[in-house]
Amino acid sequence: MGIDMMMKVGKIDLKWPVIPASGVWPYEEDFWKAERLAGIGAICTKAISLSPRCGNKGIRLWETPAGVLNSIGLQNVGAIGFVEKYLQMTKDCPVPVIANVVMESAEETSETLRILQDTGALAAAELNISCPNVDGDGMAWGVDPSSAAKAVRAARKSWKGDLWVKMTPQTPCPEDVARAIEAEGADAIVAANTWLGMGMDMQKAKPAFDRVVAGLSGPAIFPLALRLVWQVCGAVSIPVIGCGGVSSASDCAAMILAGASAVEVGTAFFRNLGVGKEISEGLERYVSQYGCSRLEEMKGLARK
Ligand SMILES: Cc1cc2nc3c(=O)[nH]c(=O)nc-3n(C[C@H](O)[C@H](O)[C@H](O)COP(=O)(O)O)c2cc1C
Repeated sequence: MGIDMMMKVGKIDLKWPVIPASGVWPYEEDFWKAERLAGIGAICTKAISLSPRCGNKGIRLWETPAGVLNSIGLQNVGAIGFVEKYLQMTKDCPVPVIANVVMESAEETSETLRILQDTGALAAAELNISCPNVDGDGMAWGVDPSSAAKAVRAARKSWKGDLWVKMTPQTPCPEDVARAIEAEGADAIVAANTWLGMGMDMQKAKPAFDRVVAGLSGPAIFPLALRLVWQVCGAVSIPVIGCGGVSSASDCAAMILAGASAVEVGTAFFRNLGVGKEISEGLERYVSQYGCSRLEEMKGLARK
């Protein structure tokens, strides 16, 4: 590849703009080695909460015509478990590793971030503010600008490195939420997490999921996510990482044209573990097509 595909997100240089989104990249040593990481600029970990979580009961994944509904429930081994089990793999990984951190109470999240920071092995923390604020009104932290700001403020106090904040699309005012996140000192915004949906088990005549509602991902949400990226990029000046339904070089190029600095890819990896390489390689054609010599020049081109 002759074209410079490097993108910058805060202090992090990404050799390629594709990042496996939280929850899809297996915690298997083999997957964290150079041979498996062609076309991949960084890896995002599965959610990390302070204590281990066993996740939700019942069905966890439900296929839909153009995507997947999931109700995993942030199952993870907890912050100390992460350090004990996966720290070495993280240290040895040839690309930057981003820790996806569950926004719990301010105290719990600060403690999680402190444990992770002490390792010195993580390039950034990605704060997931789609989780409910159980000490507040029980709504997701990221639904309104003031609770989003509160979450970011708490994280910013304890995490000194690059802080990415992953928005929920379940907000009526994405631009205001994005501006609140930027004002609290986040280094980048990920737009966005899954969209709430539901499946019906037609055999049982019951909702497919025990909790009824689940998160929709995959191609079905791409146009929705692209719209959010466009809006958020228009509202803030920190880097924006597009996330939602990206499964081809064309999708990735569209996000970058809208202003994204990188993309996170989730569900597409379930179908094809080589999709990161395919997207990054395919993107080169778009860079040339728009008369650019570097991918960076393509960023936000559709806005000019
Ligand atoms: C099985 C599964 C597990 C996920 N786990 C997490 C998670 O732990 N933390 C998080 O912030 N997002 C999680 N997500 C959301 C993805 O990171 C991503 O935001 C979402 O799937 C949209 O991207 P996609 O359409 O490319 O999959 C998960 C998604 C799936 C499908």
